Amino acid sequence: MTTVIDRIIKDHQHMARLLDYLDYEVTGYREGSEHAPQLNIIIEALDYMHNYPDAFHHPLESRLMARLRPRLGNKEERLQFDMIEEQHKQITAMTQKLVESFNTVASDRVVPINLLLAEYTLYSELQREHMDLENKFMIPAMQSLLTTDDLVLVDNDLKQMSDPLFGSHLWEAYEDLYQYVVERESTLEPVV
Ligand SMILES: [Fe+2]
Ligand SMILES: [Fe+2]
Repeated sequence: MTTVIDRIIKDHQHMARLLDYLDYEVTGYREGSEHAPQLNIIIEALDYMHNYPDAFHHPLESRLMARLRPRLGNKEERLQFDMIEEQHKQITAMTQKLVESFNTVASDRVVPINLLLAEYTLYSELQREHMDLENKFMIPAMQSLLTTDDLVLVDNDLKQMSDPLFGSHLWEAYEDLYQYVVERESTLEPVV
């Protein structure tokens, strides 16, 4: 049981760090910014969000929340779960849209930068709000209500899908992003 909860908590820590870097790089597009944005890093980070959190992390949470829902003690908790599920849909759609928009920037076609910055800000805020909500309501519910049967159900998934950036097997597509993260954190703490 603790395995899956630990994995989710760890994912949140990784995502929070990655969002910090994304925030920094995207602000490079603001007028008067003193640093040039690294577009390849932005695209790799958003692609990672699409391929791991959106494709694995949130669906895993959704499966577990569906099992926990009948065991929740009150309506307030059920409403929080509803909100989290709604945010999963919003986040996935927004990641997809941002990946497309930044790929358009990469292809040198004209993109309204202010609109893109506004969309990204909403995205970043929603991701952080979402993790806060999960850490506050979903994680404690998991800690108190998940059973061994629930663990067995997701155990295989956990073994088969390692994190392609922060996990044991780095995807080739994220090599530049990994180097970037290592460099940014080399004076702070280890990556994994
Ligand atoms: Fe989530
Ligand atoms: Fe999450």
